[in-house]
Amino acid sequence: MMDRKDFEILKELGFEDVGPDTMKNDYWKKRGADALAITTQARDIYGCLDHTRGEGLEIYDIEGTKYLDMTGGVAVRALGLRYRPFIDFEMKVADVVKELPGMDFDAIPQTLLAERILSLMPGPDKKRVTFTTSGGRAVEGCMKSAMDLSRKNRFIAFRPAFHGRTGYALAATASNSKHKSGYPQGVDVIRVSYPYCYRCPYGQNVEDCNIECVEALRYALQVEGNDIAATLMEPLCGEGGLIVPPAKAIRGMYEVTKDLGAYFISDEIQAGMGRTGKWCAIEHFDVEPDYVALAKALGGGYPLGASIGPAPMFTGPARHSETFSAEPKMSLIALWHIKHIEEGGYLQRNVKMGNYLLKRLTEVKEKHEVIGDVRGMGLMVGIELVKDPKTKEKAIEYRNKLVKNLVQKQKLWILGAGQNCIRFTPSYVITKEQIDDMAERLDRALSETEL
Ligand SMILES: Cc1ncc(COP(=O)(O)O)c(C=O)c1O
Repeated sequence: MMDRKDFEILKELGFEDVGPDTMKNDYWKKRGADALAITTQARDIYGCLDHTRGEGLEIYDIEGTKYLDMTGGVAVRALGLRYRPFIDFEMKVADVVKELPGMDFDAIPQTLLAERILSLMPGPDKKRVTFTTSGGRAVEGCMKSAMDLSRKNRFIAFRPAFHGRTGYALAATASNSKHKSGYPQGVDVIRVSYPYCYRCPYGQNVEDCNIECVEALRYALQVEGNDIAATLMEPLCGEGGLIVPPAKAIRGMYEVTKDLGAYFISDEIQAGMGRTGKWCAIEHFDVEPDYVALAKALGGGYPLGASIGPAPMFTGPARHSETFSAEPKMSLIALWHIKHIEEGGYLQRNVKMGNYLLKRLTEVKEKHEVIGDVRGMGLMVGIELVKDPKTKEKAIEYRNKLVKNLVQKQKLWILGAGQNCIRFTPSYVITKEQIDDMAERLDRALSETEL
């Protein structure tokens, strides 16, 4: 629980009224609702998080309830909460000059970070990096560059797909009508179905299909025009329902893109930074993207994103920038994270732990037929809930009830994805014991929740 020193800090900031007697979830959720425009997740499910406490995968609400965190801060916390060596490093760099706009003037940290990121990227050499402060803007940096270099301004994107909630990124997004409806869309998108084999829109089986999804894209280009700047694709679809596409479909989409002379952008914001066992998840599919968008785990909790693309990326100076991007402290922290993910052997470990996570979830599936599908790669895994395994009717309400049970009764900090899926994107420090513990809690929640 928050203690005297934490309340002292708030007092110093002028908040005399915040003391031990206010440490109630309902109290702070009400204050939040009266002050904040919105939270993405339902306030009736989640407690108010304690910002002063937590370790690894253990996260607390302000009433002191401990949860096992399977979200990793939506894939942000690669090394878990309050990783001691990271805090020590943060202390060391606390005194650097932070207030240097990274993309406006040269400074050493951002250059070293750009070099380091480039050394990890798949695809043709001769790339450049532009930094940003969010995932959506990392995508937009790639999109703007692709438009600038190609002199075209239309994109291929997918349904479902999540690329962000602003401008061009929102135009490419299609995972939840609440994000989109009512907002004018910033660029023209030719949209086809994401390769979603569990619910193949073309009624095919992945083993013997002729990648009809790729054919659908070819047809869309014939009838809608093929003046395309780039294809924008998540190598694994995260927010839209944790979908793992087959390699032949990704390669097919890539080949169509290349036949057009267009660029291929891999949105690695959720799947990248080693989560699936490669720095970029697209590497699993033998595809060399022209652009990569990174964020989330790149900054280890700080708001940092990167757009990586073919040199010179922009046709002239001042074609694109962002004031707060890659300021020195964030750049040093990102370099620290890359080094520790690499030296800690987390890429290999994520594959091992991910396989174990899949195994345990598959065992739970065998006991509960409401789980229609278990899928994932490395530590990016999801389950899909269905009313009937034969008809595959989506169990939308059930998913919401299950998440509520998991959070409130089983004390598992967890998030849905798509309409009827639950995703598991834990920090890379997760142990086998924690996976076993999670599987038991999920098993209990499934037994307690009625369809
Ligand atoms: C694949 C993907 N792209 C883009 C974004 C947008 O990132 P941000 O919320 O930092 O703008 C997200 C966020 O969840 C994401 O998962």
